[in-house]
This record gives sequence, C-alpha cells and structure tokens, in this order.
Amino acid sequence: MDGLTELFDAARAAQKRAYAPYSKFRVGAALRAASGAIYSGCNVENAAFPSGVCAETGAISQMILAGETKIVEMLVVSEGVTLVTPCGGCRQRINEFARPNTKIYSADPRGVKATYDFSNLLPHAFGPEHIDQNEDIAREPT
Ligand code: THU
Repeated sequence: MDGLTELFDAARAAQKRAYAPYSKFRVGAALRAASGAIYSGCNVENAAFPSGVCAETGAISQMILAGETKIVEMLVVSEGVTLVTPCGGCRQRINEFARPNTKIYSADPRGVKATYDFSNLLPHAFGPEHIDQNEDIAREPT
C-alpha cells in the first residue's frame, strides 16, 4: 500500500468515528509525522456549538501526545458534496507544526481530489519564529 493510500485509509477510519449529530457533517483527518507514523482525528461536536472541535485538531493532539512535533503531510476527508480544506483556526494550528511546502490533501470518500502546499492555505503566517522571546521554540524562518 502506498503512503497516500495509508493516509487516506486512516482518515476514513477516523471519519467513521466522527461525532457530528448537529451538523451531520462527518470529517476525518490524518497526518504523517516525521517518524513516518500516522495520527488521525475526527470532528467532535458539542451541544454548545462553538465548543466542538475539528478533525484536524484531534489529529494534532494525537501527534503531540505521541511525542512528535512535525507534520510532513496531512489529509482531510469529508462527505464528498464539496471538498473540505482545514478551517482558519485549524490552519493556524497546523502552521505551528508544518512547513510552507507541507502537502495538504483534500479527499472525498473515493479518494484524494486536491493537493495544496500549506503556504497557499495560510500565506504570510504568524508562527513560532515570531515569538523571539522564547528561543526554545523559535525556528529558522522559511
Ligand atoms: N470540520 C472539521 O472537522 N474540519 C474541517 O476542516 C472543516 C469543518 C467540522 C467542524 C464541524 O463539526 C463540522 O465540520 C461542520 O462545520
């Protein structure tokens, strides 16, 4: 199985676990971290609507919990009527751990339909390198 198929399958498996009783819009996300391991997440909605979280945020939490901090590629799968790319808040969360050339894939249930460089989704991003007070997390500007 190739790497992209593996990522897609992980995102689809996560999507099936989505808790989306309010929007009925089930989303799955999977990312590959620097070790090659895949971490996935699904959206988890809440009766207090703004408290719901996106699939991408769940996948990032799994990555951090596993002790990794670099996103190599990420795939988001939705129901298929219109393709989904990460929302604005998730783009900012992804930026913390991604590079400008990190690939973001949008998929419907049949497969990947679009590929983006992350820098096209969040140009001129504000990131860890701007927090120059904290040298532990500052990284080279790219
Ligand atoms: N959602 C995600 O999980 N990821 C996205 O990239 C876009 C939106 C979720 C949030 C909410 O549970 C539902 O989709 C409808 O907005």
